[in-house]
Amino acid sequence: MPVTIYDVARKANVSIATVSRVLNNSSLVSAKTRERVMKAIEELNFSPNVIASALTKKSTKTLGIVVPDISNPFFAELTRGVEDACNDFGFNLIICNTDNSIDKEVTYIKLLKQKSIDGYIISTAYYNDEIVLKMIKSNVPMILLGRDIECEGCNFDAVVSDNEKGGYLATKHLIDLGHQKIACLLGPPRVKVNLEREKGYLKAIHEANLKIYPELVGYGDFKVDFGYKKALEILTGKIKPTAFFAANDLTAIGVIKAAKSLGLKVPQDISVVGYDNTMLAELVDPPLTTISQQMKKMGYLAAEMLIKRIKNERTAGEKVVFDVNLVIRKSTDYI
Ligand code: RIB
Repeated sequence: MPVTIYDVARKANVSIATVSRVLNNSSLVSAKTRERVMKAIEELNFSPNVIASALTKKSTKTLGIVVPDISNPFFAELTRGVEDACNDFGFNLIICNTDNSIDKEVTYIKLLKQKSIDGYIISTAYYNDEIVLKMIKSNVPMILLGRDIECEGCNFDAVVSDNEKGGYLATKHLIDLGHQKIACLLGPPRVKVNLEREKGYLKAIHEANLKIYPELVGYGDFKVDFGYKKALEILTGKIKPTAFFAANDLTAIGVIKAAKSLGLKVPQDISVVGYDNTMLAELVDPPLTTISQQMKKMGYLAAEMLIKRIKNERTAGEKVVFDVNLVIRKSTDYI
């Protein structure tokens, strides 16, 4: 049975509040009482845990981040920015990976609540996300990172990128290279960033008066295997695209793998543009042309904004949209 704050109070013959004041180095405790409490702590080998400090200080100085796929370098780099801010501001960080499972997301949010964390960074939000909407309406200290949601009249913080601009820049780049049949491979339709990237794709296509081929647009899961299988299906289908816009780097890497498996060369036969500009974009062969998101800066700012809200130095309701830019490497070329 672990030693509790109650055992220490009993042994030192003081109140719980006095033990709490000693644990928090309060000046309201006499030297004599402090000595008696510290002696009881040593004799009982008591180690105050974060929950005990939450009972006294109402803050565990801990944030929780919930991401859908920690194996995707986008979320790894985003989380790195969050962790850097936590280190700078003296906060701990609990990282939860949901594998895109709503059930896991619910479980993790309950777990974080039990640990009395001070605030939540949610990177899993999908369109009209019930879990997130409930948290927003119950005024839980939280911030949406990398993905936001539709919530009329709601007051919440978010740090995202300009996804429509990203989809437009990627597609315009391919059109400027002379491509007219351009496939578009997106992530899950329930994730708002895809609807925005697709909007940018369609805007560039319409602007150039090109034809839309529904067979060349597909929704997947932001993973390599989807990009590979969908690209195989399209490249062996009736309408042969000469270029692909993939809504994240992992999907783009799957497209390159599919092209190579069919004996096609990238970019000589097929041009490919990705999205995120993770560390993989430079390492894949050929190095990937992609849309750059500022993951570490986004993560750092989200944590900083949340911590300032927890400290009552700011109020919620701010949406920060980071700019994106096209990074041209070797996976795209003229038709
Ligand atoms: O790579 C995963 C995608 O989901 C990223 O593009 C990011 O925008 C996140 O929403």
